[in-house]
Amino acid sequence: MSEQNEVLKLNSQTICDLLNGAPCEVEVFDIIDSTNLEAKRRAASLNKSPKLILAEQQTAGKGRMGRQFYSPRATGLYMSYVYTPETDFSDNVTVTAAAAVAVVRAIERTTQLNPQIKWVNDIYINGKKVCGILTEAVTGQKTAIIVGIGINITTEHFPEEIVNTADSLNTAVDRNRLAAEIVLELQTLIKELPNRTFIDDYRQKSCVLGREVTFIKNGTEQNGTACDIDLDGGLIIKTIDGTVTLNTGEISLRLKR
Ligand code: BTN
Repeated sequence: MSEQNEVLKLNSQTICDLLNGAPCEVEVFDIIDSTNLEAKRRAASLNKSPKLILAEQQTAGKGRMGRQFYSPRATGLYMSYVYTPETDFSDNVTVTAAAAVAVVRAIERTTQLNPQIKWVNDIYINGKKVCGILTEAVTGQKTAIIVGIGINITTEHFPEEIVNTADSLNTAVDRNRLAAEIVLELQTLIKELPNRTFIDDYRQKSCVLGREVTFIKNGTEQNGTACDIDLDGGLIIKTIDGTVTLNTGEISLRLKR
């Protein structure tokens, strides 16, 4: 690992200090199966304060659609923010969209990079995925929302199946600061969720709008042009048969001819 890519260890006290009094308990694991799974295990005993769980390495990092999230030691930021929403609000697409904007803002604030959002949960830089977001809800006496965020920071060797699509930030970034910036942005955006203040930023940072996309709706593969993001974070696509709004699932970008 080059000196520029050397990463400082994650430290819960440093992150707490950087949160500057914002309410959030922070816990760092050296190795864990998945920070989202740990957040689920903790959800029932969560008090009023939200919790941030981070790990240097995950052995069973979870992605969307039952996929794995590759999480090698100390080369990424693997974190789950878990909170109990004040209202019954638990729309995963909207929370995921807000989280994507929070991650973009935090990366912009801590690096010189220009990240973009691929609907709904991926952050891209130069056409490659550097971050994925997995939002999950745990229902019990109270609903808890878990926002899991995985950012490749200095990961160099990816597994075969993602080697052509994944990349890392590849820049010197203090993971403690990046984590704290994400939490601060997330807390702001979660408060603003009912007003959807982040949707304009989401649209601006989208690398999908205006592009030809392929998607599956009702079991059928279809093509169309992504033309807007609605106020709930849904993707509006124009097809030859009319307009379709996706609130779940995923899209693939079609190569420009
Ligand atoms: C995706 O790309 O499909 C979403 C990936 C989400 C990965 C993060 S890493 C931290 C948190 N813990 C997990 O097990 N998953 C999320």
